[in-house]
Amino acid sequence: MPDYEVVVMPEYRYRSEILAALLLHGVYPKPTTPPALVHEFVSDLYRFELRRLRDRLVRGEIPRDGYYDRVVELRRKYPLVSVKPEFWTVPLYHGPMPLTGTVRSKLPTTGVSIFTTMTQLANEHGAINLSQGFPDFDCDPALVETVAKYLRAGFNQYAPMPGLLALREALSEKVVRLYGHRYDPVTEVLVTSGATEALFSTLTALVHRGDEVIVFEPAYDSYVPAIQLSGGEPRFCTLRGPDYRIDWDDVRSVLSPRTRVILLNSPHNPTGAVLSRDDIAELTLILEHTDAIVVTDEVYEHIVFDGLRHESLARYPAIANRAVVISSFGKTYHTTGWKVGYAMAPAGLITEVQRVHQFVTFAVNTPVQHAYAEVVQADPVRTDLASFYQRKRDLFLSLIEGSRFRPLACQGTYFQLLDYTPISESDDTAFALQLIREHGVAAIPLSPFMHEPGARGVLRFCFAKKDETLQRASERLRAI
Ligand SMILES: Cc1ncc(COP(=O)(O)O)c(C=O)c1O
Repeated sequence: MPDYEVVVMPEYRYRSEILAALLLHGVYPKPTTPPALVHEFVSDLYRFELRRLRDRLVRGEIPRDGYYDRVVELRRKYPLVSVKPEFWTVPLYHGPMPLTGTVRSKLPTTGVSIFTTMTQLANEHGAINLSQGFPDFDCDPALVETVAKYLRAGFNQYAPMPGLLALREALSEKVVRLYGHRYDPVTEVLVTSGATEALFSTLTALVHRGDEVIVFEPAYDSYVPAIQLSGGEPRFCTLRGPDYRIDWDDVRSVLSPRTRVILLNSPHNPTGAVLSRDDIAELTLILEHTDAIVVTDEVYEHIVFDGLRHESLARYPAIANRAVVISSFGKTYHTTGWKVGYAMAPAGLITEVQRVHQFVTFAVNTPVQHAYAEVVQADPVRTDLASFYQRKRDLFLSLIEGSRFRPLACQGTYFQLLDYTPISESDDTAFALQLIREHGVAAIPLSPFMHEPGARGVLRFCFAKKDETLQRASERLRAI
């Protein structure tokens, strides 16, 4: 086989080194040499050079920082060579390992969420935090005990991919009781890792490159990134204060043959507006002229005030036929940290959502699903939650009476919008920062819920807080 004579020098102990040394000295295989053999020679040469480089590093002849640059140069010199992992193991190198290419962001404009920023600032300034949307009180201890019971009983392995059947059955029954529509627990109900995952899996399943999704602004912050990651385009309709109702003419004006999804949220975060029957009538008319699917985020379904009714799309069979209804246990049971939610839709739609869910989450926390199955069976209607939060809303409103803030209508959710224009003309982010730094109360501006910054005049305050928290915050707000 060899096309040349080989004299083994004592310092070359390995076949690869011998071959590499020959090549280094200009001894090349004849053209008749099979390409695989040539490739092997070149690989050997590369490895030989790499080994020499590493030896020089170990001997301290080249700096650690420079080592990686030289490896990158070598990789460029031998682009086709594949390297065994052991050749990349550099025991002494602990310096920076820069990437040779650049990472192209899929969400280049996404930064740290406003909720994180405001909470950090609230902590730094010792401010009372009415910015983040979760309770500062605990959930029902009985619910914790129920989860603990299942943990101790050994329910600690994967749940079925679509969710525990007992929970899906309980949810199906709940929707029959509340909204009169039966989703088949086996084929039409999917348990997800929070509503966030349900929204992500749904939008990923339905939206293809170039599809349009109608989004109402201000909008919950996870909607647009999920659309963009699928190559879809959000088409924005603005909800305008003071009542933040949907302008259905606006919807008609952005509707196009490319509209794949109309994305609704009621009760609405951050405005507290809820859909009315008139809205549903408008939506029904619009759906007659399009093939769009409705995705509806109903995580605050049990938090609707003043005798209003939650207009779940599950109530309307014609719409439910082409809707994905999404909700969550987090808001309903004061357990936002457990991150369990669900999606319901006709089987054809749920199958597609499930195909994505299978690879995003696969299965959701088993003992928590068992516990929710029990509590949903026991009280599907969650009767006391609306009055619980209505009392908190009214307490907060009475406590800030006499302040210069003007409350806007709040029909649902646990968020109260306050108009601050009698106090300041600053944009909302600037005013929210001022409120933390100078007055020790954290709230959320609406700008981050919009695709274009510059909203002004209104901040969102979360009243899912202990009465004492609301009292202390209100004292500060009254003093402004
Ligand atoms: C409108 C809306 N949708 C979805 C979510 C996320 O719900 P989950 O925590 O179940 O993912 C929230 C949480 O704040 C929300 O306000």
